[in-house]
Amino acid sequence: MIKLILTGATSVALGFAGIAYCADYEAGKKKAEEVCGACHGADGNKPLTPETPRLAAQYRDYLVHSLKAYRSGARENVMMSPMAKPLSDDDIDNVALYFSKQTGLVTKY
Ligand code: HEC
Repeated sequence: MIKLILTGATSVALGFAGIAYCADYEAGKKKAEEVCGACHGADGNKPLTPETPRLAAQYRDYLVHSLKAYRSGARENVMMSPMAKPLSDDDIDNVALYFSKQTGLVTKY
């Protein structure tokens, strides 16, 4: 019963939060492993070069914002821009959900 109430409350809370909550975690994971992992690491924790950011545990809305900026050309990078160009809005929502749920660096204080 408690679980049922909590589930209901969570759904309501998520419903108010704005960005698309139909994002698909598994589809995001697949894309991350197939494409993004080559440079960022499949879970966003193994950057290939020091210039490649960690994506694990990054805020979801920041990931969406950055990817849309690369896609539109507002943000440019010789490595990253070509990766973002073919992504659909759904792809972006999905990978953003996936990377935001990975465990990143932990600060103690
Ligand atoms: C060829 C290597 C490469 C691949 C593949 C790649 N990226 Fe990147 N990505 C980079 C580099 C390099 C940067 C840093 C660019 C910059 O300084 O603007 C970056 C930056 C980013 C950023 C900005 C992070 C921040 O902290 O501002 C996001 C978000 C991102 N990538 C997501 C993705 C996603 C999602 C995929 C898969 C669809 C992907 N990347 C595939 C190399 C890559």
